[in-house]
Amino acid sequence: MSVGREPPPAVAALFPAAAERERIDDLVTRALSASAGRAARGPVMPALDMARFRAELETFDFTSPQSLESLIGWVTTQLEHGVVHMNNPRYFGLFNPGANFPAQVADRISGAFNPQLASSGSSPAPVAIEAHVVRAIAQRAGLPPDSSGHFTTAGSEANYTALLCALTRAAPGFAADGVRAFAGAPVMYTSRECQPAWFKIAHQAGIGRRALKLVPTDGRGELDCAALEDMVARDRAAGEVPVLVSATAGTTGGGMIDPLARCAAIAREAGAWYHVDAAWGGAALCSPRLRSVLAGIELADSLTIDAHKWFATTMGCGMFITRYPAVLSETFRVAADFMPSTVTALDPYLNTVQWSRRFMGLRLFLSLAAAGWAGYAAHVERAVDVIAIVKERLLARGWQALNDSQLAVLCVAPPPGFPPIREIARRMLASGRAWVAVTTFAGREALRICATHGEISGQDIEVLVESLSAAGAAQ
Ligand SMILES: Cc1ncc(COP(=O)(O)O)c(C=O)c1O
Repeated sequence: MSVGREPPPAVAALFPAAAERERIDDLVTRALSASAGRAARGPVMPALDMARFRAELETFDFTSPQSLESLIGWVTTQLEHGVVHMNNPRYFGLFNPGANFPAQVADRISGAFNPQLASSGSSPAPVAIEAHVVRAIAQRAGLPPDSSGHFTTAGSEANYTALLCALTRAAPGFAADGVRAFAGAPVMYTSRECQPAWFKIAHQAGIGRRALKLVPTDGRGELDCAALEDMVARDRAAGEVPVLVSATAGTTGGGMIDPLARCAAIAREAGAWYHVDAAWGGAALCSPRLRSVLAGIELADSLTIDAHKWFATTMGCGMFITRYPAVLSETFRVAADFMPSTVTALDPYLNTVQWSRRFMGLRLFLSLAAAGWAGYAAHVERAVDVIAIVKERLLARGWQALNDSQLAVLCVAPPPGFPPIREIARRMLASGRAWVAVTTFAGREALRICATHGEISGQDIEVLVESLSAAGAAQ
């Protein structure tokens, strides 16, 4: 059979031959491994001369193509010196983990297949894998067997989804008329220690930032339930409509857990959707030793859990889970006859904020399948033990613990005579020896130390404690 005229050849720089791909893949593997080793031993802070870097960056005008091999060398070097290293076990920082290895492998695999996760029609196996993992986490949390959910770009998207579901359930007219469907202004409640993305979420969802009602805490960083009850009663009397109560299980600053069961009862009584933001703390579900600290999570209408936090997957792997799949489907319903499938209960484009989607869930699937619940239990328990040791060591040197988290975050104030907290943090970061954050916990400024890395050693703890003392010494 004659094939007629051939199209022009494929662009080799974009689609090299298989042998060249393998050569480059091997090269990337070795470059990353060497770089990770150096990053783990070197300074936590970026050491890049940004002026020089920007000047180099300007030379990329994309007119003359360069070899991928040299570009890989350039990029890995810039990243090795141009980021705060979450891969360094002395990063005692925000909830950004050193990524676990199965998740890194997952990214490579999903990058190679590049499946479109919008629909089960185009990606039957990946969509089924994601749904399976979400169900497993839902069951672990004690939600009913027919609960569902999906992977999100992050915790913020999952929390946004919770507010949209809450609004959709609260007023049948919300889908068509937005907040105009409510008899009074819809409002939501979460504690003052909440993650501040909630302000953006209230804005995005159209209820407005003033509709986010911040409930005082009890002095220990947990939501004050009596205050919540009072606020709800007052707002209802004023004609406002409580649509959502979000309790936090593992606050960003202090790792505190709101009274989950009491918050559930108050939300029910108010007719509001009950969400638990367990973006970081949710991983404690894996541990029989820690599970009880999350008692009451099973009462949630929906949950946020980020795999890219304590589950230590690569970035951008949140989860939204709900006991009301029908509300989720109603919230994101749409007709699109060009899509390869229309399975209301399953297709991600019919149940999520996103349309085109990456295979994010493979990261948690591979990690969970490789480590098992027991592996993850050991991982989270280890982090809690690390923080217990740090606490013991710092208290012995006169530091004061401000929080009493059952998870793996410690907020401390320095001994008398030390410089202000921000100055201690500045000196510490300038040394590049370890990374800690400054936070405000229960109204007081504190240094926040979190065990985010899965390989923190006794020596790393030693360096942290010594560096904090050195940062506090007169200069
Ligand atoms: C309790 C809590 N909720 C939500 C978020 C937001 O998550 P993400 O950064 O994945 O959007 C965070 C982030 O630290 C958090 O600590």
